[in-house]
Amino acid sequence: MYCEFYGLKERPFNVTSDPAFFFLSNKHKEALAHLHYGISQRKGIIVLTGEIGTGKTTLCRFFLNELSKNVKTAFILNPRFSEIQLLESIVADFGIATPNKGKLGLVKQLNGFLLNESGSGNNVVLIIDEAQNLKPGLLEQIRLLSNIETEKEKLLQVILVGQPELNARLNLYELRQLRQRIMVRYHILPLEHREIANYIEHRLNIAGLAGGIDFTREAIEAIASFSSGTPRLINMICDRALLAGFAAETKKIDQNIINKCLEELESYAVGGKI
Ligand SMILES: Nc1ncnc2c1ncn2[C@@H]1O[C@H](COP(=O)(O)OP(=O)(O)OP(=O)(O)O)[C@@H](O)[C@H]1O
Ligand SMILES: [Mg+2]
Repeated sequence: MYCEFYGLKERPFNVTSDPAFFFLSNKHKEALAHLHYGISQRKGIIVLTGEIGTGKTTLCRFFLNELSKNVKTAFILNPRFSEIQLLESIVADFGIATPNKGKLGLVKQLNGFLLNESGSGNNVVLIIDEAQNLKPGLLEQIRLLSNIETEKEKLLQVILVGQPELNARLNLYELRQLRQRIMVRYHILPLEHREIANYIEHRLNIAGLAGGIDFTREAIEAIASFSSGTPRLINMICDRALLAGFAAETKKIDQNIINKCLEELESYAVGGKI
């Protein structure tokens, strides 16, 4: 609703994981490098963790867009599935036609697909987001899939993405075989303090702003201390701040505006902390 006032094409601080807004922070750059390395070297299993709202899903979407045509991908978002459902959704996401019924049939079909793609010189990547929700049995199933290989190479690369609880889960004794297979790991940390102003500017630019909104230095400091650099929290506060600026008919976002927004957010937050 404030877009017209600021001359924006769209809202710059949506909390969706739209890769068009991706900001290449140092940590996100390192994370991407790890993913590219793991995939190109066919390392089998890769684990990407990060606290809530640090940009894992956004990074995955950006990464998927970067991959070349000879990398076939499946992206599973909410894996609260049974084993069969997980297999079905993997098969469907790879675009394998008319899935077989039953676990064995699905695994066989996936096998055939992997051999076929490998024969055509392609690599295959499965990304599972929110992997901290996978039950140990499903993680074991994923290990079995990643075992599919020729004498020379792994046919399926798996990226497990999740909140830090994923590491706790992977540390379970019963998953020690899977743990041994993890060849690449990366933990995304929040934005560095000095990156926050650039992050805000970047998102404003992508949303079509040609100058005009001024986040003062003190405002940025207040945002930094509230968010500790977590992008989703930065977005939440900046979105509110733009609304407050619009209501007050000002394009200068100062510390007062941010403090008011923080008070509002805190009064909504259950338990005091968002
Ligand atoms: N590098 C980035 N560049 C631009 N926006 C980002 C970046 N990282 C995170 N964001 C933004 O922050 C918000 C949260 O990001 P995202 O949903 O990817 O986090 P997440 O780590 O997957 O969170 P969760 O643990 O809740 O799944 C989104 O609005 C996203 O656009
Ligand atoms: Mg996510």
